[in-house]
Amino acid sequence: MPLSAQPVLSAPPERVDIQLGERSYPILIGAGLLDDPASFAATPAAASALIVSNTTVAPLYAQALRAALANRFRTVHLLELPDGEVYKNLETLNLIFDALLGHGSDRKTVLFALGGGVVGDMTGFAAASYMRGVPFVQVPTTLLAQVDSSVGGKTAINHPLGKNMIGAFYQPQLVVCDLGTLQTLPPRELSAGLAEVIKYGPIHDMAFLDWIEANVDALVARDPAALAYAVKRSCEIKALVVGQDERETGLRAILNFGHTFGHAIESGLGYGEWLHGEAVGCGMVMAAHLSQRLGGVDAAFVERLTRLIERAGLPIVGPALGADRYLELMRVDKKSEAGEIRFVVIDKPGSAAVSSAPDALVRDVLAQCCVE
Ligand code: NAD
Ligand code: GLY
Repeated sequence: MPLSAQPVLSAPPERVDIQLGERSYPILIGAGLLDDPASFAATPAAASALIVSNTTVAPLYAQALRAALANRFRTVHLLELPDGEVYKNLETLNLIFDALLGHGSDRKTVLFALGGGVVGDMTGFAAASYMRGVPFVQVPTTLLAQVDSSVGGKTAINHPLGKNMIGAFYQPQLVVCDLGTLQTLPPRELSAGLAEVIKYGPIHDMAFLDWIEANVDALVARDPAALAYAVKRSCEIKALVVGQDERETGLRAILNFGHTFGHAIESGLGYGEWLHGEAVGCGMVMAAHLSQRLGGVDAAFVERLTRLIERAGLPIVGPALGADRYLELMRVDKKSEAGEIRFVVIDKPGSAAVSSAPDALVRDVLAQCCVE
């Protein structure tokens, strides 16, 4: 579908709902939402709020958010965490608890996660565990966070032995995606977000994959209408999946297409060396090759997906960790069962499933997809 066929967003914001019974909540998508008090009208009533952000995002957007919240809370505190995946750990998480306790926060205090997926995942986990659970709101400011991490309630920190290994399922009360914030994202981060957008095509919606192919240059150029449609459609697909399988007992695993290889790249190189989205982009190339070997897709499909990932500005060749190390790292994946690695594969274009694969096949894929 050409871009011109998509509606341009205008006020009021677009809304996608996550339907989870009493844990349901809206995702608001639009420009200029961050500094509009109306965006936060659904926020629970409380005396105090804590905005958790980082040293990069807070100087850009914390003041605007604070102003928007001023008429809802008596006090709004701000905590700036150090910036980076390498800080997504227990020590940094503890800074949030220090701030909450230091400010005398109570059970009604609302946490606002202002930033990308790192801030969102850590703030969500802090909200899940402070006083056994306080309300929180996601205000994602990266493309990756707007299309994926802020939605669905997965919260976590990393452990040196594995990515996102310690965390909880804990839903926010509201997600506010201000598309204007995407204009200040570094280009590499925008591309990283596109990896998670592309993911939704092969696993669920080939028409969306067609649309992304037709509009990838507009997305890379940050065309507002293209970004608006990409965020909305991605959130709709994620809402559909999470609404059926909140705790990943089955279907939700398809959202991890490319992630088994990707997480191995991230932890194998050391967190932060490759961005999460870059690792997922390259991981999807590997997972597509594996899908071909398992008979789900043909070589033309693999080539098509690879070219799209490349056009989005993402790496398509994996680092030389060595097949043994890849396999060792992938066995730590949360989908593994009794030491057997389980991959998300495309079983036919637009549909994904979880499958094991013989090590020999995985070694073939790694030999084909990694630098020597
Ligand atoms: P990130 O949070 O590290 O943000 C990327 C960089 O962009 C950071 O340096 C950040 O400070 C900066 N930044 C953020 N917003 C900005 C803006 N508007 N302008 C300028 N700079 C800005 O990375 P990410 O890609 O947003 O998130 C990756 C994390 O998300 C990973 O830890 C991953 O595991 C997690 N994740 C979680 C889920 C989930 O379901 N919970 C899903 C996917 C990814
Ligand atoms: N990002 C994968 C999930 O939310 O399940």
